[in-house]
Amino acid sequence: MAREWLNSAFRDLHALRSFSAIILLIVTSASAFTPPSTTGSSFLGAAIDKDGIFSLLFSNSNYGQKDSGPFMSNSLFSTKAGREIDYLRHTDGIFHAARNIFQTEGSSVTSDGSQVQWDVENFGVVKVTVTFSATVQQDTYGVSFAFAGSPHFYGVWEYPWDKAITNNHYGANLTANTAEERNKSLPTADIGIYGTQPGINWSNARAPFFFADNGLGVYVDSDTPVTYKFQEGQGSTNVTIGVSAGAITYRVLYDQTSIKALLGEFAQLSSYPLLPTESAYGPIFWSDDFEQDFHDSSIKNSQDNINDVANHLDEFRIRATSFFADRPYGSGNWSFGNFDFDHRFYPSPAAFIANLTKRGYDFQVWVANRAFLYTQLFNDSSTNNWLFPGIDPVQFLGPALNLSIPAAYDYYSAKLVDFVSKMGIRGFKIDRGEEREMPDSEQNRQQNLFLTLCDEVMKKVWGGSNASTSFPAPYYNFARSAFDRDRSRVGIWNGDSEATFEGLQYTVASGIRAGLLGFSHWGSDTGGYVRDAGGPSEELFARWMHFSAWTPMYEIMIGLNHTPWYQYSPRLVNVLRQTADTHTRLIPYLRTYGYDASKTGVPVIRALFLEFPDDRDAYTTGDAYMLGSDFLVAPVLTEGGNRTVRFPKVSNTTTCRKFLEYENKTAVFSPGDIHEVVQLPIESMPVYVREGSLVPTGNVYQGNSVGWARKNDSAWAPHIVLEAFPSFDVPETVISYYRGREAVTPPGIPAGAVAIYMTTHHANRTVTFRATDSLGVNASVVVYQKSVKDGKLFSVTLDFPMHNQTAVYTGLYSLFE
Ligand SMILES: *[C@@H]1O[C@H](CO)[C@@H](O)[C@H](O)[C@H]1NC(C)=O
Ligand SMILES: *[C@@H]1O[C@H](CO)[C@@H](O)[C@H](O)[C@H]1NC(C)=O
Ligand SMILES: *[C@@H]1O[C@H](CO)[C@@H](O)[C@H](O)[C@H]1NC(C)=O
Ligand SMILES: *[C@@H]1O[C@H](CO)[C@@H](O)[C@H](O)[C@H]1NC(C)=O
Ligand SMILES: *[C@@H]1O[C@H](CO)[C@@H](O)[C@H](O)[C@H]1NC(C)=O
Ligand SMILES: *[C@@H]1O[C@H](CO)[C@@H](O)[C@H](O)[C@H]1NC(C)=O
Ligand SMILES: *[C@@H]1O[C@H](CO)[C@@H](O)[C@H](O)[C@H]1NC(C)=O
Ligand SMILES: *[C@@H]1O[C@H](CO)[C@@H](O)[C@H](O)[C@H]1NC(C)=O
Ligand SMILES: *[C@@H]1O[C@H](CO)[C@@H](O)[C@H](O)[C@H]1NC(C)=O
Ligand SMILES: *[C@@H]1O[C@H](CO)[C@@H](O)[C@H](O)[C@H]1NC(C)=O
Ligand SMILES: *[C@@H]1O[C@H](CO)[C@@H](O)[C@H](O)[C@H]1NC(C)=O
Ligand SMILES: *[C@@H]1O[C@H](CO)[C@@H](O)[C@H](O)[C@H]1NC(C)=O
Repeated sequence: MAREWLNSAFRDLHALRSFSAIILLIVTSASAFTPPSTTGSSFLGAAIDKDGIFSLLFSNSNYGQKDSGPFMSNSLFSTKAGREIDYLRHTDGIFHAARNIFQTEGSSVTSDGSQVQWDVENFGVVKVTVTFSATVQQDTYGVSFAFAGSPHFYGVWEYPWDKAITNNHYGANLTANTAEERNKSLPTADIGIYGTQPGINWSNARAPFFFADNGLGVYVDSDTPVTYKFQEGQGSTNVTIGVSAGAITYRVLYDQTSIKALLGEFAQLSSYPLLPTESAYGPIFWSDDFEQDFHDSSIKNSQDNINDVANHLDEFRIRATSFFADRPYGSGNWSFGNFDFDHRFYPSPAAFIANLTKRGYDFQVWVANRAFLYTQLFNDSSTNNWLFPGIDPVQFLGPALNLSIPAAYDYYSAKLVDFVSKMGIRGFKIDRGEEREMPDSEQNRQQNLFLTLCDEVMKKVWGGSNASTSFPAPYYNFARSAFDRDRSRVGIWNGDSEATFEGLQYTVASGIRAGLLGFSHWGSDTGGYVRDAGGPSEELFARWMHFSAWTPMYEIMIGLNHTPWYQYSPRLVNVLRQTADTHTRLIPYLRTYGYDASKTGVPVIRALFLEFPDDRDAYTTGDAYMLGSDFLVAPVLTEGGNRTVRFPKVSNTTTCRKFLEYENKTAVFSPGDIHEVVQLPIESMPVYVREGSLVPTGNVYQGNSVGWARKNDSAWAPHIVLEAFPSFDVPETVISYYRGREAVTPPGIPAGAVAIYMTTHHANRTVTFRATDSLGVNASVVVYQKSVKDGKLFSVTLDFPMHNQTAVYTGLYSLFE
């Protein structure tokens, strides 16, 4: 059907000739801001002109592109990236010259003998394959895309060059005045995508996908390394993709109603984000050095040390879901590769893990595709020739197994299955893969294979997601380096960030960038990882805890002189408890949006422009974001507690919604307002909830609080609290609430989403709540409003009983009126 529609659009091309002037006008009026929509555009066809320039023509977005015959890349910066290339000439002429031969599908040969083939694949997707001619120099293979004006570009890398969420800071800035300035934004090619970089080392989730704020995206569905280069010039920006293979296939995504829809289209072509199990939300506690930093004479090993952490979490009532053991934990060289625990560190590992499991923790271990010298993994792999050759094993690095060899894959998998099932391990922290343990050209392929292997190992032991209930299986893997489809297999941690405010600033931007690549379940090393500057100050630690509470995954590194209850003040311990509570309370909200991400491709951490497409500034905001669609999160990112909060503008006043400061629920802000937060105490966090929101919160996953309930001798039951912020200007709100695992009791309640409606009626000052099906647990609704007497905040709590999930409240005075 789509094809027919396009063909008829093509037949109308004659009629569109007179329209071409308008097309060109759009090209030249680059400075006017147009909200990102390619809606209604159609692909009119593609052609190669006499100069060998390949162009794709769309009816209402103007876009030229060429296989540069010469030159092109993914995520690896090869040496080729630095090479200058002969750019395509994107002139008005190409449209005039070639217009009458544009075809929606076809193939053609460029002047240098390369072949270009194109076809409309789906509605809104054109597939193009370029096969380079033997006469083209291999190190200049590539394709370039010329974008008129100066759109913002997103995607490809998690790492935020210059703390920017756009890619305009990568590559050369050809309009800069001096050679130094032109070079300033050139990323230095390192091993892997980004190795040691300012702000965060190894921030390496990536995908061969970029898009522009005009709604056009390009996806190279291949694990072959390609390099990307974004070059801003006068009046146009060129994006160049360099490849080393003799051919490239890419897809151009167009005609989406919004950038959210574009991300959905991308997810459909690639993969949807992971919906993780509850323990994946955290707080997840870990230390780089559980084998040292003991604080009691009775503590003699890692096992005791972790128990000591668990005891302190109990004592301070700090919620947590899991622990993981980083290296060192195993026997063998460099403490990994013998598929065991070192008895010096863990004298009774199975009993210890069973004990922690009973206390409500999942226990995870560090893994990597890396064989240290003379470990079992090394010896067996070396005997079988599975290791990448030429990687010197006389180093901490150790070579990786080539997992493309089925026997190597099966061996590693079987060893891990055995270890995991014997010990009761419920997940892997998957490290490295981009530190020269394999040829750079293998990184994407091998990381896909290793992350798939780790996921399969856990599935074999713990089961897959239950098809009838669609609950995720009870395990959780997360990784530092991940490539494209890995988004459906693992969560992501930010990389090795600096324990400084600057490291935190980079981290926030990297979380937003990860979301734009579909790596939705994301978190960061709270407090920062690289502690060269002495580790997190009390204030930095506190600010980072608040930030992590408002991300999908809260993981926190303690130890080696940075454990809150040993080295910081009681005030910080309070902040830890408080933020752990906040995060735990948000699990129903986080998993609702996690479920949404797994179905729509729209991430939980959302760049502001996804929610506020008509706000120009939203396209470059890297220090604030939306968490789901209800919360504007503006973490404090400098010492002293000051920051500016800009409330995004909306152009349609009908859909204009205000923001309520969430902590105290008194200050109301309008779109476009600028608010100065001044000297905010470390107990506070600038978060704003949108007018008319209905926010599912509650206590649905016990984690370590299982022990507290027993001590208090009180029966624990999951409970949902719908926090309501009704407004008469928002007559109806509907959310798609995801029922988690707790909804199986009582039986008969399936997982999946249920719609909950909140409707307001000004005439009788009534707000009504109604779920289309049971939430599967008892719930209550808390209606936040103001007193008619003194205008002060107050709330009422309504029952939302499991078998009749409706509630009505009359007498509402909205906080927004
Ligand atoms: C991009 O390509 C166009 C058309 O070939 C060219 O005129 C322009 O100079 C290029 N811009 C940059 C920044 O390389
Ligand atoms: C490129 O340089 C120009 C001129 O100095 C500057 O205005 C622009 O902001 C720079 N772009 C980026 C992305 O740094
Ligand atoms: C700019 O970068 C190129 C490529 O990395 C390098 O060869 C050149 O020396 C640099 N120039 C300056 C002025 O830094
Ligand atoms: C992190 O990167 C910086 C460069 O920005 C480097 O100096 C430092 O050694 C790296 N640290 C680690 C632990 O890799
Ligand atoms: C099990 O937990 C208890 C505290 O709940 C602790 O005293 C004991 O040492 C733990 N046993 C192991 C093997 O870790
Ligand atoms: C691996 O081989 C080396 C050398 O033969 C040997 O010393 C070592 O014990 C072996 N490692 C294991 C775990 O068997
Ligand atoms: C451990 O590996 C190093 C090289 O990284 C090597 O020199 C050493 O002999 C190995 N030790 C053992 C016990 O295998
Ligand atoms: C924070 O803002 C206040 C009020 O503008 C100012 O007095 C103070 O110096 C600022 N603090 C820092 C660390 O910038
Ligand atoms: C504003 O939003 C409303 C509700 O979605 C819609 O009906 C209306 O057409 C929009 N107005 C404009 C000018 O886009
Ligand atoms: C909420 O009010 C308290 C008490 O006045 C104040 O300390 C805190 O900073 C406020 N929170 C925010 C986010 O403004
Ligand atoms: C309030 O008014 C609405 C709209 O007129 C109506 O549907 C609803 O039943 C009324 N509710 C109550 C409790 O009166
Ligand atoms: C369900 O709740 C509504 C609103 O509270 C109430 O009017 C109705 O009687 C209840 N129905 C049942 C079957 O309990």
